[in-house]
Amino acid sequence: MGLRLSIKAISLLLILAHVAEGGDFDVTKYGAKPNCDVKQALMSAWKEACLCPTPSTVTIPPGVFPCSPVVLEGPCKAPIGVVLKGNLKAPGLAQIPTDAWIVFQKVNGFTLSGGGSVDGMGADAWKTKNTKRPANLRFNFVNNSVITDITTKDPKMFHMTVLGGSNMTFAKLNIIAPGDSHNTDGLHIARSNDIKVLDSKIATGDDCVSFGDGVSRILIEKITCGPGHGISIGSLGKYPNEQPIQGITVKDCTFSNTTNGVRIKTWPGSPPSIAADMHFEDLTMKEVSNPIIIDQEYCDSNLKCPPKPPSQVKISKVSFKNIHGSSLTDVAIKLVCSKSVPCQEVELGNIDLTFKGGAAKSLLTALKPTCNGKIIPAVGPA
Ligand SMILES: *[C@@H]1O[C@H](CO)[C@@H](O)[C@H](O)[C@H]1NC(C)=O
Ligand SMILES: *[C@@H]1O[C@H](CO)[C@@H](O)[C@H](O)[C@H]1NC(C)=O
Ligand SMILES: *[C@@H]1O[C@H](CO)[C@@H](O)[C@H](O)[C@H]1NC(C)=O
Repeated sequence: MGLRLSIKAISLLLILAHVAEGGDFDVTKYGAKPNCDVKQALMSAWKEACLCPTPSTVTIPPGVFPCSPVVLEGPCKAPIGVVLKGNLKAPGLAQIPTDAWIVFQKVNGFTLSGGGSVDGMGADAWKTKNTKRPANLRFNFVNNSVITDITTKDPKMFHMTVLGGSNMTFAKLNIIAPGDSHNTDGLHIARSNDIKVLDSKIATGDDCVSFGDGVSRILIEKITCGPGHGISIGSLGKYPNEQPIQGITVKDCTFSNTTNGVRIKTWPGSPPSIAADMHFEDLTMKEVSNPIIIDQEYCDSNLKCPPKPPSQVKISKVSFKNIHGSSLTDVAIKLVCSKSVPCQEVELGNIDLTFKGGAAKSLLTALKPTCNGKIIPAVGPA
């Protein structure tokens, strides 16, 4: 009896081992060669892996692989992983006609890992004012997925975007571009829920992490941000019928030499919408221009902004707790809410922000925050 069981167990293990082996699709078996365009091989390997009824991986081995714009799409028959060990390099701006260089879409149970990198070769693109430049990686309608241990470098516009995603974890990422590279947001998340961004280093020329409308249950933890524009919710209220923001927590992060720390921004004259349950805690600010900021009169510095009626984006249930360090400007706490829909249930606790050139100040409009512990600079009556 015991013998029969163990023979069964062993043959089962052998079958599993065989399936696992059969489930790896190396792009070199599909014709990929270093220094040659890997797109066709990548698409062929993905296509077969995607049809595989058991979990499979597509491997890109070490080496430099130029890659034309590519869309890798599901649904797949089983979970699928891309193991990127090599370095993918983007072609010039003119060779990428859409807003994305590499797209993963409609996949459930996806993993991207492997220690390799994607290099957007973006320096040629930062000079143009065109705002439809391609992102390095777009994840559209991707569920139950993990993106970990990869580098994204010098995108022509955003490094990564998430749209329509659910249950995704981004961890141990290295996101790099120069501080003066235009619009190179690290990770832009919109219309998505249950997203975690953990243990990552983001140095870039725009927001380290930014949020569009329709996000809920988001956790950002252990991120170092800088250079860059900080972590930004919004700008909200540009379009009619934006979906609510419900539940974003940013904790245990360090901001160095960034233009903002944590920011919520909405356009003036915006149609009504909601942003609630946003919590910022255990943050270190090193030489940050605007460490804590709500700006409901946001105006892009590149645009001329005529006076407009107040924003109708309703901000509520916001907390800023245990935030310390240095501000590069004297206004260390700026909470400018909408005169038409004042912010509600804003809580400040244990804040200590200094300014080299003198006393730090706070600037408050249209809110009455609850304060706990020491708040430096003190917040006066609004
Ligand atoms: C992702 O999840 C959503 C909501 O649960 C579902 O409607 C969608 O079909 C899923 N997408 C994939 C690719 O499985
Ligand atoms: C979220 O995705 C991970 C990775 O695929 C998976 O292990 C986990 O079960 C998923 N969680 C839920 C609630 O579906
Ligand atoms: C801060 O960032 C700016 C813009 O990227 C850069 O020029 C400057 O050298 C940085 N300063 C420090 C102290 O890192």
